[in-house]
Amino acid sequence: MSLSFLRLLRSSRPSVLYSPRVRDYTRTSGIRLLNNDASQAQLADIDVSKLEVIHRKDKKPQPASAGLKFGHTFSDHMLTIPWSVESGWGTPQIRPYGPLELEPSATVLHYAQTIFEGMKAYKDEQGRVTLFRPDMNMRRMNTSAARIALPTFDGNALLELIKKLVHLDKEWIPTLPGYSMYIRPTMIATQKAIGVGPPNEALLFVILCPVGPYYAGGFKPVSLYGTTDYVRAAPGGTGAFKLGVNYAPGILPQKLVGEKGYAQNLWLHGPEHYLTEVGTMNLFVVFEQDNGDWELVTPPLDGMILPGVTRDSVLTLAREHSQGKKLDGLDRKITVTERSVKMSEVKEAAEKNKLIELFGSGTAAIISPVDRIGYMGEDVHIPTGPDGMGPVSGPVLRELVGRQTGTIPSDWSVVIDEP
Ligand code: COI
Repeated sequence: MSLSFLRLLRSSRPSVLYSPRVRDYTRTSGIRLLNNDASQAQLADIDVSKLEVIHRKDKKPQPASAGLKFGHTFSDHMLTIPWSVESGWGTPQIRPYGPLELEPSATVLHYAQTIFEGMKAYKDEQGRVTLFRPDMNMRRMNTSAARIALPTFDGNALLELIKKLVHLDKEWIPTLPGYSMYIRPTMIATQKAIGVGPPNEALLFVILCPVGPYYAGGFKPVSLYGTTDYVRAAPGGTGAFKLGVNYAPGILPQKLVGEKGYAQNLWLHGPEHYLTEVGTMNLFVVFEQDNGDWELVTPPLDGMILPGVTRDSVLTLAREHSQGKKLDGLDRKITVTERSVKMSEVKEAAEKNKLIELFGSGTAAIISPVDRIGYMGEDVHIPTGPDGMGPVSGPVLRELVGRQTGTIPSDWSVVIDEP
């Protein structure tokens, strides 16, 4: 056995460590983790008071919001926090946005040990800066970290640091309707060694990106292709976690459906062709029931579905509507169900004019209506309204965006900066 391999074995963490906050989230989210042992109390957690700030000297020119291509423009600064197995979380640093220094042996480059989150910051008409339900992202990031044996952390401390970063670069937050600042917290394993195991070093970083619509076509309906040759997630797999490794295998299937003239994959699971997710979004379907009421359905969190923040928000708003706190513009009674849906049910409902609409939800895309699904050689057509939105997705989107941007008061919106 080589010396470096021995050193790697010795320096690797003995087992996956799950802190209480991860255990709580997994209990409430229904996500089961493989292991569940000691806490990380002996190692330093993220310490906001140690923050170092290195200001950028030359401010970058800011492009006009209208011309922004999603994910291609970054603000002046970024946050980095190193972690090591010996000392835990090190000094947080806000520094000019720029390249990271990584050894070619860094394990993230070989074994895809990377997790990420998607959040957004908004600036309202009074100049107040807000985040939308950021506590949910912090909890989910910890769950993702634990799933691939990356270190967990104090989510409140990371959130404080993100607020400081957003405050510093708040001039970058676009204010056009539908625009915002996308926040991308990421963690990677940086152990300098070839070998699969829990890393002895990791890096958490956060970058900021002024954005408009996620899809190139703007806020218009998208077309889907019911994909059965490739799977995004399987029972017992990692579909319920926000891991980089869940996304790379979807790129070829997406390219292939693009060549057929569709925008995104509709991931169908198993021989029954259960609907799971849409491209990189959660999925909702609205059926008309026999009594004329509408049913809003989304697949349950069975381990294959990402517990999306927007998914949870849509469910909450729809449940509030069904309990009497009506969504503006939606007069129908709806029942809200988390249940499995087969593609045959969608097709049959479309044929009987009982399919009211189908849409995706996600932080990046917000709410994205679907107008057709290519399935087994034919197109299933989905109704959409004159503005592209459906009768449920439209009111849901308006309420959601209102709460996100502060025009509708809500405790989901966290003010982080007053003008
Ligand atoms: C998000 O919706 O925030 C996501 O993380 C999806 C991503 C691929 C843009």
